[in-house]
Amino acid sequence: SSTWRVAAAEPQELRIPELIDARSQGRSISLRAQAGRTSFFPGKESRTLGYNGSYLGPTLRVHRGDDVEIAVTNALDEETSVHWHGLLIPGELDGGPHQMIRPGATWRPVLPIRQPAATLWYHSHVHGRTAEQVYAGLAGLLLVTDDDEKALALPSEYGVDDLPLVLQDRQFESGRLILPEGMMTLMHGRRGDTLLVNGTANPVARVPRRLVRLRLVNGSNARFYDLAFADDRAFHWIASEGGLLERPVELRSLSLAPGERAEILVDFADGRAIALEAGPDTNAPMVMGMLARAADLIGRGREPVLRFEPQGGEAPGVKVPERLVAHERLDPSRAVRRRRFAMTMGMGGMMGGGMGMHGINGRPYDMERIDEEVRLGDVEIWEVSGEMMAHPFHIHGVHFEVLSRSGAAPGPRDQGLRDTVVAQEPVELLVRFTQPAVAAPFMYHCHILEHEDNGMMGQFVVR
Ligand code: C2O
Ligand code: CU
Repeated sequence: SSTWRVAAAEPQELRIPELIDARSQGRSISLRAQAGRTSFFPGKESRTLGYNGSYLGPTLRVHRGDDVEIAVTNALDEETSVHWHGLLIPGELDGGPHQMIRPGATWRPVLPIRQPAATLWYHSHVHGRTAEQVYAGLAGLLLVTDDDEKALALPSEYGVDDLPLVLQDRQFESGRLILPEGMMTLMHGRRGDTLLVNGTANPVARVPRRLVRLRLVNGSNARFYDLAFADDRAFHWIASEGGLLERPVELRSLSLAPGERAEILVDFADGRAIALEAGPDTNAPMVMGMLARAADLIGRGREPVLRFEPQGGEAPGVKVPERLVAHERLDPSRAVRRRRFAMTMGMGGMMGGGMGMHGINGRPYDMERIDEEVRLGDVEIWEVSGEMMAHPFHIHGVHFEVLSRSGAAPGPRDQGLRDTVVAQEPVELLVRFTQPAVAAPFMYHCHILEHEDNGMMGQFVVR
């Protein structure tokens, strides 16, 4: 309908965010949240936000065992905060709504990196405006590396055979980014008709003819992706949100909800150009037995996310390892407590109520209220469910295992250590609390950002 489709016809080379390795910077990194202008389509500028640039931020690489200072300067004319999603650090370093940075101020957390290699991300988590700030571009990748990962000799040439891929859908009008508003966005979350990877519309990636590692990050506000290659080729899933799996899992499709990450290995040795595609996203609220369809945003067929063009001769690549890393499994019988969390959608808003319509266990988020108190070192079972649609539940400061789904054993995609998990029917999580949150609480919330901003969040202390 609108003219963006014409502009989008031209393929664009996939942007690769700059890599900042903390060790080449004296374990000290500077991030500056700033406003800028981005051309998603040639000749069409949009107002956007970014870290050290106009849209998204650099990829930060940190090493296990290091203490890394990240100085975040807020050069915006509004408040912001930066949350290190998936990092296991104490509450006051976490970057949630309680670590708000005023315009002009600099926040200097020193982050102790004590966890295994993983693909994490950082993004705005400012009170009530997370969705808008992330949509405008305030997000980036945070890669933890360690010796176990290096010993596996996985593809690790950043931007060559180890590609960071931030998946986002955005809405454009005449080639310019717009912010969808209205009651539907409160219910469905903001969605768009254009898929971006690292902020590139209609992207093409040139890759070597060998095994390539893709670090997939769903940085969308609300969209769920059901990813597969156009020829349905098999690939290997090697890492979940918390890091490497025990062994690779062969898959032909992979779902990714907002906040979730997955690393996969895919072989381009045959030299054929191929697209990674996404199926339609049908996750919408079921209201009185009817799917409240976001017209045109769901129910489309498979569409390309990213085209790959293998280059050069067939390269002698690495093989998919048989085993990855050993996991220390938690024993469910050690759980000292069970807590239940139902992500609830308020219908009041539909009748004109508005803010605070969503909640957890029926209560909208209140920054002044501590919802749960947990003892440091405890193992607990958290039973999570969601109303009217599937919701990605994220817990700060922990990694957990999925124990069961709808009362049955978890599926293949539920394995590994997680920090975000999709719930509608009840999911049981086995959670160990290793990080204190005394000076400031941790959050748990739905990662559909419009749900989070509108109350589907709670907070807990750990002491
Ligand atoms: Cu990625 Cu509380 O968020
Ligand atoms: Cu939700």
